[in-house]
Amino acid sequence: MERFYKLDEWKIIEEKFIPDRNKMAESIFSIGNGKMGQRANFEESYSGESMQGSYIAGVYYPDKTKVGWWKNGYPEYFAKVLNAANWIGINITIEGEKLDLAKCEILSFKRTLNMKEGHLERSFTVRMNNGNQLKVVSKRFISLVKQEVAAIKYSVTPLNFNGEITFCPYIDADIENEDSNYEEKFWKELDKKVKDREAYVIVRTKKTKFHVATGMKFNITQDHVSIDFKTEQIEKKKYVANSTTVECKKGQETVLYKYIANLSSENYKKVKLLRKVKKVTREAAQIGFEILLHEHIKAWADKWKESDIVIEGDLAAQQGIRFNIFQMNQTYTGEDPRLNIGPKGFTGEKYGGSTYWDTEAYCVPFYLSTADSHVARNLLKYRHNHLQKAIENAEKLGFNNNAALYPMVTMNGEECHNEWEITFEEIHRNGAIAYAIYNYINYTGDSDYLLEYGLDVLLAISRFWAQRVTYSNEKKQYVMLGVTGPNEYENNVNNNWYTSYIARWTMKYTLEAIDYIKNKNAETFKNIADKWNFNEKSETADWKEKILKMYLPEDKQKGVFLQQDGYLDKEQILVSDLDKEIRPLNQTWSWDRILRSPFIKQADVLQGMYFFEDDFDKGSLEKNFDFYEKRTVHESSLSPCIHSILASNLGKRKMAYDFYLQTARLDLDDYNHEADEGCHITSMAGTWMSVIEGFGGMRVKNNQLQFNPYIPDNWTSYSFKIRFREHLLTINITKKKVEIKNTFDKAITILLNGKQVGIAANKSIKVE
Ligand code: BGC
Repeated sequence: MERFYKLDEWKIIEEKFIPDRNKMAESIFSIGNGKMGQRANFEESYSGESMQGSYIAGVYYPDKTKVGWWKNGYPEYFAKVLNAANWIGINITIEGEKLDLAKCEILSFKRTLNMKEGHLERSFTVRMNNGNQLKVVSKRFISLVKQEVAAIKYSVTPLNFNGEITFCPYIDADIENEDSNYEEKFWKELDKKVKDREAYVIVRTKKTKFHVATGMKFNITQDHVSIDFKTEQIEKKKYVANSTTVECKKGQETVLYKYIANLSSENYKKVKLLRKVKKVTREAAQIGFEILLHEHIKAWADKWKESDIVIEGDLAAQQGIRFNIFQMNQTYTGEDPRLNIGPKGFTGEKYGGSTYWDTEAYCVPFYLSTADSHVARNLLKYRHNHLQKAIENAEKLGFNNNAALYPMVTMNGEECHNEWEITFEEIHRNGAIAYAIYNYINYTGDSDYLLEYGLDVLLAISRFWAQRVTYSNEKKQYVMLGVTGPNEYENNVNNNWYTSYIARWTMKYTLEAIDYIKNKNAETFKNIADKWNFNEKSETADWKEKILKMYLPEDKQKGVFLQQDGYLDKEQILVSDLDKEIRPLNQTWSWDRILRSPFIKQADVLQGMYFFEDDFDKGSLEKNFDFYEKRTVHESSLSPCIHSILASNLGKRKMAYDFYLQTARLDLDDYNHEADEGCHITSMAGTWMSVIEGFGGMRVKNNQLQFNPYIPDNWTSYSFKIRFREHLLTINITKKKVEIKNTFDKAITILLNGKQVGIAANKSIKVE
């Protein structure tokens, strides 16, 4: 394994510019604030390999699906997260030569992502072809406080000459998506304005008609004093710029401060966008870079106060976990229930920026424990808001009676995946959505969520499962035919154990939810039942019958659940039989060969055993783990974290640690050779889980927080923060003791290693 970046507790540091690795670095060093994000592209022009990426939350394009044979039920479009206006651009020209790192000699280079403070810095010295040597330092951030604002400090120092330098800050909305089915551009110009030291562009997306306004304003200082300068205003199609030439002396630093605002019609009336973007841009410039940065750093300090994990004795692990937590906090802040978490967040275009089951299965636990409960609640409400569309989606496929099938991939509630057999058939996502409701209520104690929103969704999903199973006369049980489980290296299988298990569980949980609401408020239950035309007697009787007779494949002799019917017919070769060079399989084997092989892309049966661990004894867990671990290639980023947690649970500590490191440094060390496309944001929540639930052994059972911690051998200590209901706890674990601090003015009793332990308000306890 190769390390690309210097190890550091709080920073990601690239010390040498390697053009072949630039796209990967652009992903890794991305910044964002939940509302917008930006890959680590250069401010000055760069003609080498690069993937431009500037993204505005919630803004997408429905690109018409391209497919050989159109089948009924195929989605009309595959949503694309849009590469939006380039707002970072600042061209530098000296004696007619444009600064371009692909075309001049790089004498030194350093790129630093400061995760503690949330900014990106890059410094380099170069010799240009005209012999001029130059030092450049750029620093930028996207404000966590003023969520539409970003700022750049771009400093240039001539090292061996006195002369004129031309600065040309611009906004360029004439950009393309890397991922575009018909190679078209997705933006149309609506309006633009260029003035002295400021400029604005408003563009709109084709078809979806989102309007986005981008504004910039700048000033220049020399020796820390603002200077006067004249500008030339430049306008082109979807492009606005100001150009200014400044006299610079050898050794003298000239700094351009560029303030940016990005506003979308998701949050403002279209007619008001221009006025608003001017206001926000000007206000940002008025406040100034240092104050904006200062408040931004403070906001990051608050985030870290609630979500940091400190690891002592293992720098690689420390850097890895902070990188994951940083990216999670950059991607989603939970204020807006219309937004969700794309698998690549704001770091790339892959997966279209859309919502997958990843949110419910992986991300919800992270936000439950590290943020106020409204954050996770908003993720749940996102699905409630899409319920009607999920019902229509199921209707299109022939289901009725308000049964809902949520999309596997969505931007607005409509299905927009681009592969039928794999993605569409992964109906297991319905189960994860139900499970997240359970998880949220179990964690927060907010059972009334069921009355307001939860039961609506559960009824509709249970109705779907009840209609989706078929009675097999041969088995005298209900079977689930033609599905794809989480393991995408098998398509259209019968009786995927995970899918059937979670379907059965959903129906059981819905029955419990009905009882809860009936006891709590019979009137509310009646209203919900009337709203959905729910025939309690006959439908619950039907579910009970299906719960009782659900077929779940297993091999009793081997003591394992079977991933699907016929799994054991496959040649039972193991991952250890594979040569290293052919991994990842999806980059070397044909799809046909993968489908025939026994290799499993990601946790599947084990995913189910992870969700429902109380249903299984340790012996059964161990047998299944040993069996499936040997067959799993972990070619989904979502896989190693689940294996890590289960390995912790089984006392397989070395394995748990190895999986942890793999998941924590998946992108930093580019395990799967694809970090150039963007970072694996949703699996980062899984990394967090492998520390908290794996090493820390945290669970919430019967309204109580439990820990069963251990410490990986090569760590001296680790500590993490947990928000549990109104408490904020800091749990510190060393080889000798566990210390838990309760930062709240109310006592709490927890279960620590199986014993009840009380912790008084604002006090700590220590257990040797
Ligand atoms: C995984 C899916 C996941 C998707 C988006 C795929 O590689 O197999 O489970 O939902 O990536 O992260």
